Amino acid sequence: MKPAALKAELLPSTQRPKAVFGGCLLLGKSLLGVLAICAVTVLSSWIATLAEAATEEKPAANAESATEYKLKIPFGLEETAVVIPADNPLTNEKIELGRLLFFDKRLSQDNTIACASCHLAKFGFTDGKQVSTGIRGQKGGRSAPASINRVFSNAQFWDGRAATLEAQSVGPFTNPIEHGFPNYDVMMAKMMKIPGYRKLFMKVFGDDKITVDNVGRAIASFQRTVLSGNSPADRFDQGGEAGAISAEAQHGLLLFREKARCTKCHSGFNFTDEKFHNLGLGWDDNKVDLGRYMVTKNAEDIGAFKTPTLRQVARSAPYTHDGRFKTLEEVVNFYNQGGVKNPHQDPLIIPLELTDEEKRDLVQFLHTLNGEGWQHVKAPKSFPQ
Ligand code: HEC
Ligand code: HEC
Repeated sequence: MKPAALKAELLPSTQRPKAVFGGCLLLGKSLLGVLAICAVTVLSSWIATLAEAATEEKPAANAESATEYKLKIPFGLEETAVVIPADNPLTNEKIELGRLLFFDKRLSQDNTIACASCHLAKFGFTDGKQVSTGIRGQKGGRSAPASINRVFSNAQFWDGRAATLEAQSVGPFTNPIEHGFPNYDVMMAKMMKIPGYRKLFMKVFGDDKITVDNVGRAIASFQRTVLSGNSPADRFDQGGEAGAISAEAQHGLLLFREKARCTKCHSGFNFTDEKFHNLGLGWDDNKVDLGRYMVTKNAEDIGAFKTPTLRQVARSAPYTHDGRFKTLEEVVNFYNQGGVKNPHQDPLIIPLELTDEEKRDLVQFLHTLNGEGWQHVKAPKSFPQ
């Protein structure tokens, strides 16, 4: 997959090289000379600023019509942790374009699959299936993860192979069993035949030539608005609302942090350390997926997968990269037995010796992690023609 390239012309003006004032002191010999040269420097940098202002007036990375979008961060999530690249600021127009692209089935080889086919709001933005089904009914090898709170992560996918959300946002299009385009040129040519999209790309990016990088920027921007916070657990734990979760779930939260050791990996406000661990899935049924190792080729990453967020987890079954667990009870039993032993298993995974009551309370706690911040996502009523 080709990561979205950071183009120099899309850098915000603050990051572009500017004329250096200090230089004039070294150039002048007499006081008068210094003044003259400084005056020229000041003048030329003033002209440069004017020229820059002039170039910025014609639609560049941010088209003239773009209006800034203020991300509304639900309670319990950390605003300081958001990852929004400088060359892809959130604007209302770009997010709306991203939403159209996310739902548009014409962005697949045979017009049958959109991102939204496998990431549905009602299933915590997964598809509710063990593994996903792409074009012509083909099944993939991994389960769709909950694509929420993506604004807080750099590395995307179970194995972290996409270094940015922009790169992730175009990956599925050329996956032969997802959207199925043979390459991006074929996809761009198809999109260029839809005048409505050319108009929108002109409005958002100042260029009606649709590029894969700009498709990635728009979809990533849309995805950054899909959040989940202000869950009952947040209101209990951070909001001090004693009755927000049941006594069983409160006990489950204690277990989650202590005896059950879940926060060793599902840590922080988004319940993930953003790291990769081998729990042993696949080493028991001869279906080993090398996971992170295929990206880094480091032996320590063999069979390791990204710790997923647990927000919305009660809605996003089935669970883990191979989608083998239908219920949270099954997941907890798996951890309780210490995962599946294998030469590369993470040493943090050990048998837990939880009682039946403790297991039940832990599951109760996991059920308090459904929240808000994604309910605005609706399928568009119509698409650009
Ligand atoms: C055929 C079903 C399918 C389609 C279509 C699809 N996805 Fe996915 N998505 C998956 C699966 C399966 C994974 C996990 C793949 C992996 O990690 O190797 C995934 C992973 C992701 C992730 C990573 C989440 C994380 O926690 O790392 C995001 C984000 C995402 N998809 C968004 C999209 C977008 C945007 C599109 C459209 C361009 C899209 N998906 C199209 C099935 C699908
Ligand atoms: C060593 C780190 C680690 C620990 C400790 C850990 N997890 Fe996980 N968790 C992961 C990783 C990594 C995955 C994904 C594994 C995979 O798919 O191969 C995962 C997956 C999950 C999933 C599936 C989520 C989904 O969207 O598919 C749930 C639920 C879960 N863990 C809950 C827990 C609970 C509850 C505990 C404590 C009993 C716990 N985890 C302890 C790292 C950990």
